[in-house]
Amino acid sequence: MTGDLLVQNAMMVLPNRIVEGDLRVSKGLIKSIAPHGGLVPESHELVIDGTGLHLLPGVIDPHVHFREPGQPEKEDLESGSRAAAAGGVTAFLDMPNNIPNATNRATIEAKINAAGKRAITHHGFFIGATKNNVKDLQSVEGMDGVCGIKVFMGSSTGDLLVDEQKHLEEIFANTGGIIATHAEDETRLQSRIAEFQHRTDIAAHAECRDVECALLATKRASALAKDYDHRLHIVHLTSGAEADWLVANKGELITTEVCTQHLTFDQNDVEERGTRVLMNPPIRYTEDKETLWKRLKDGTIDCVVTDHAPHTLEAKSIGFPKAPAGMPGVETSLPLMLTHAMGGKCSISDVVHWMCEGPAKVYGIKNKGSLKEGFDGDLTLVDLETRKRITDNDTWTRVGWTPYAGMEFTGLPIWTIVDGIPVHNRTKDGSFKGKSLVECGQTGRPLRFG
Ligand code: DOR
Ligand code: ZN
Repeated sequence: MTGDLLVQNAMMVLPNRIVEGDLRVSKGLIKSIAPHGGLVPESHELVIDGTGLHLLPGVIDPHVHFREPGQPEKEDLESGSRAAAAGGVTAFLDMPNNIPNATNRATIEAKINAAGKRAITHHGFFIGATKNNVKDLQSVEGMDGVCGIKVFMGSSTGDLLVDEQKHLEEIFANTGGIIATHAEDETRLQSRIAEFQHRTDIAAHAECRDVECALLATKRASALAKDYDHRLHIVHLTSGAEADWLVANKGELITTEVCTQHLTFDQNDVEERGTRVLMNPPIRYTEDKETLWKRLKDGTIDCVVTDHAPHTLEAKSIGFPKAPAGMPGVETSLPLMLTHAMGGKCSISDVVHWMCEGPAKVYGIKNKGSLKEGFDGDLTLVDLETRKRITDNDTWTRVGWTPYAGMEFTGLPIWTIVDGIPVHNRTKDGSFKGKSLVECGQTGRPLRFG
């Protein structure tokens, strides 16, 4: 299903400039963009007054863990996509470390079918690599809704792991599309975990899973990409050393991403917020954070993602080192980045570049990521003026908490629109008149990649 609507009088963040004006979506596609007053409402259209709001393309979050199947107490495709919509995210790419893991065609098809019934935003899924599933990886190549292959080169949440060279080579040699790697070196990781086992202070996490662990794996994955002429995307870059190394070594085959939390937190926050901000690879040090910003701005890093990885507060309360790694973030990433923009760290156009255009380019998602005539009508309207203190109570994720609790955000999404149909409206005063996808029982679509 698609919608017809007219947004009037918004500050539109277009690819090369920000202009005040109107934007029409017809049959789910952006039909026209004009200066304010240029487009007259038609009787069948939903008209949204964009006065005082900024209109952005819908955010594409290419790194989430929505926990379906297996852990519905943490998240599922419905709750995760609702959280996404609440955060201005109109498309997500979901990771395969589920229960069972999504490592063959049947499990991937089941996820695509489930999303087709219950996800309110557009979606894509990674298939997980194992030591011996090359045929399974090949069986989903080029399928709608399949965005790439995820390789955990180091152990993290779940049991997916491919660390031996011969297995990695087999995967790089015999598959197409994009390989996305969690780059931490398993051998170094295991020896350091043994070395650090007596430490129960949370600072030990970043010391144990150190920069060398990440750098070694990033270099190894990059060499494989070059040897086998394979597209590689290195997920969640965390260290200044990796980002600096990639400047001269990235080439045409390699892209990379950074998480909002690695741009925002450092060890001081780990001390303050504890296991809520425990994740793999870890939150590192102030210098890493500053280098990640620098390499994002100079284009070495292609996009900003969340690695939305919800765990219950009950599980987190076990304390370090037993608490699970990962934090939710899909609904706060856009407000957080816009808050950074309003604070002078970057521009609003940068945020659109990193969170909309960037992921579309990395994964070859056509017709999304920009406000352009003919592109899909996936939009978000944000309020950059109102400031709001974020609390656990505001959250849409099923785990009901946010690592950013207590922080003040601006840039809250007021409307989120998928294919021209509103799926989220923050105003709860009854002013919302359109039928939402949720009310209609409609969903987003599996994305096409490549
Ligand atoms: O911190 C993390 N949590 N890192 C990962 O690699 C996986 C994720 C999860 O699924 O919880
Ligand atoms: Zn992840």
